Amino acid sequence: MPCHVVLGGQWGDEGKGKIVDYLAAGAHAVVRFQGGANAGHTLVLGGRRLALHLVPSGIGHPGCLGVLGNGMVIDPVALLEEIASLEKLGLEVRGRLRVSSAAHVVLPCHVLQDRVEERRRGGSPVGTTGRGVGPAYADKAARQGVQMGIFLRPEGEARARLRETLERKRELLQALDPGVDFDVDAMLGPVLACREQVAPLVCDTTALLQDLLDEGRRILLEGAQGAMLDLDHGTYPYVTSSSCTSAGALVGSGVPPQEVAAVTGVVKAYATRVGNGPFPTELAGEEGDRLRQIGQEYGATTGRARRCGWFDAVAVRHAARVSGFTELAVTKLDVLDGFESLRVAVGYEQDGKKLRRMPVGAEDLERCRPEYVEFAGWRTSTQGCRSLLDLPGGARRYLDLLQEHAGIPVRIVSVGPDRDSTFRA
Ligand code: IMP
Repeated sequence: MPCHVVLGGQWGDEGKGKIVDYLAAGAHAVVRFQGGANAGHTLVLGGRRLALHLVPSGIGHPGCLGVLGNGMVIDPVALLEEIASLEKLGLEVRGRLRVSSAAHVVLPCHVLQDRVEERRRGGSPVGTTGRGVGPAYADKAARQGVQMGIFLRPEGEARARLRETLERKRELLQALDPGVDFDVDAMLGPVLACREQVAPLVCDTTALLQDLLDEGRRILLEGAQGAMLDLDHGTYPYVTSSSCTSAGALVGSGVPPQEVAAVTGVVKAYATRVGNGPFPTELAGEEGDRLRQIGQEYGATTGRARRCGWFDAVAVRHAARVSGFTELAVTKLDVLDGFESLRVAVGYEQDGKKLRRMPVGAEDLERCRPEYVEFAGWRTSTQGCRSLLDLPGGARRYLDLLQEHAGIPVRIVSVGPDRDSTFRA
């Protein structure tokens, strides 16, 4: 069972990239299985900051293969730009990247549609990243998407298929909003221009992964976003359009469940959310600003300021149950250094009733008020700590509190952005 799944246990931005990089030492492949360029995984390697959107976070390890699995939606133009920017930093990427021929293509018309649909949501937009991810998944489910295998087809065939897709989309968008128009050929050009560079990367990654598993190779499955943004188990409709759970990891990679040995849920020591939707422990005032400032809580993809709040153990318990977390990795513990007091939500109250579990969907969660336990903070810095024993007593007790209320043991702790600031608990 050489497969290890790493997932977000909150609303995304938990620091999964950093934890995947930590766990990827000695792994043969790191696989993204859902989402697209909406993700923003930041790695700091030797003082260099890498912002990854499509490329898996194992890329910092020279021998590690990066796989973009069948469950992803991939903007080929964005992929080539990302590869070029990583290669500029001296990383060898192309030779060890594989893209599933079954993954779906995000076209520029999906990006446009994302914007149009957000506008049409009027006063309650989802707050998407605007990367065309939702519309591409909608086309996939409607069986009218284009798979990455298109780049392996003869040029004329690829051109005809893409043009037909763009023409259909143009009609649809004009019906939605007559003010929206685009030139099909102008949109087609940059996509077709990717064909030569993308084609050598495209293959049957399900077969590739199954062969690696047969050889006993270690594989990491890297989630994007987080459980509370999951299409089925998150705060619908304020979610992303893919499955951010363990089940999604299997569907989006072709790895069978019996191969999974461990599921790491990555959580921040507090909570953040970008985009709209309920966030029971959100701090609107000064404390929220303080967390944002210290934690530098600005989106890696869109630069948007993240909403900040206290750790919500109800949400993490939900994520842990749905995905079967076997351990927690707690990131950004150092951001809480110096807070006089901290809070952790351990339950909710909704219309006078006490709840221990997350209600289903956004509307019910919107009516929930968190029930907190208060906790005295610690004054000393955790940034130089490299083991549990190095941590101030208050920080250790805080981790105990998190694991007690989340119901899952904390096994990995991170106290800074660099690779060496992560340790096993
Ligand atoms: P979409 O995935 O761009 O459609 O956006 C849907 C929701 O998911 C919005 O609230 C986004 O802010 C959120 N979202 C998407 N990707 C990420 C991510 O990588 N981190 C955090 N939030 C994300």
